[in-house]
Amino acid sequence: MGSQWEQFYLIHSTPPDFEEKKKEIQDFCQHIDPERNIVLVTSGGTTVPLEHNTVRFVDNFSAGTRGSASAEYFLEKGYVVIFIHRLKSLEPFVRHFMGQKFLDILEVQKKEDVTSIMVKNECVNSVLPILTRYKLTKEAGDLLCISFTSLTEYLWLLRAACECLTPFGSRAVLYLAAAVSDFYIPSNEMPIHKMQSEAGPPTIYLKLVPKMLEPLVNIWVPNAYVVSFKLETDDELLIDKAHAALNKYKHKMVIGNVLQTRKQRVVLVMPNTTNEIQLSSEEMEAGLEIESKIVADIAERHNLFMKGASYNS
Ligand code: PMT
Repeated sequence: MGSQWEQFYLIHSTPPDFEEKKKEIQDFCQHIDPERNIVLVTSGGTTVPLEHNTVRFVDNFSAGTRGSASAEYFLEKGYVVIFIHRLKSLEPFVRHFMGQKFLDILEVQKKEDVTSIMVKNECVNSVLPILTRYKLTKEAGDLLCISFTSLTEYLWLLRAACECLTPFGSRAVLYLAAAVSDFYIPSNEMPIHKMQSEAGPPTIYLKLVPKMLEPLVNIWVPNAYVVSFKLETDDELLIDKAHAALNKYKHKMVIGNVLQTRKQRVVLVMPNTTNEIQLSSEEMEAGLEIESKIVADIAERHNLFMKGASYNS
């Protein structure tokens, strides 16, 4: 019998479109200069189905703001970005033009027989920098976006992406911002069909998902700069739990955040130091995003880490 994480992959076979997505990641990585810095950003929440033919599921909260904004700031810092995100959660660049906001920046113009759709004059200054960065990123081929929905899909993609990052060694950063379920119903214990209400209220037993940080840090990408997140709703628990995760998995950094204040304050917990990052109300009003400060800090520490790694080798 293997370890619990190996058991998980044995019980849960690969999702239907996994091979295509894995190939996309492989092809993408093969075309990247191995001398470049690369980051795997995970983003959005995983679902845990309650039935094989899924009508109901348990979801983990995450809009994808942290991941999508961070991906943009990593690109600005010159990183190649693999962005693994929950389908329909926020994505880099397009996140600025979601829903009605997108339609509101457009206007219809009719000149003689020709009808065209234009960006409103007053919106050009806000659209142009984002569009320019998006086009440049696309042209350079620096961003790959791959989606998941369920916990199983996420965990298979995470492992596949890690395998592709191995050749980058210490140049790879893992930025695990996705909200990953700790509980699930194993595939072999799940009903095939929709649960029926006539049978009365169901009793649902959830099992613990093995923490994939363990093989990730020790086996899949042992030379990478791994950053995980710790989400709590009780501020009192945050720092102790972040330290506990760091001690257990021995990676480089845990970023602690509290659900209610996650956009204003985070604490970067490292083995020998902590750094609290906070946005002032003026910075918030000016539209500054906390992710710009988080990514700037990580890029600097990653740089030092790489220098240390090449000095030691
Ligand atoms: O997207 P937003 O709305 O902006 O919100 C961002 C966020 C609050 C979701 C984000 O900042 C955040 O905190 N993400 C991590 C949430 C989470 O899953 O925390 P956790 O304490 O359950 O897990 C801690 C770490 O263990 C995570 O990095 C996760 O990748 C890892 N994990 C979790 C479960 C599991 N089975 N295996 C794991 O390795």
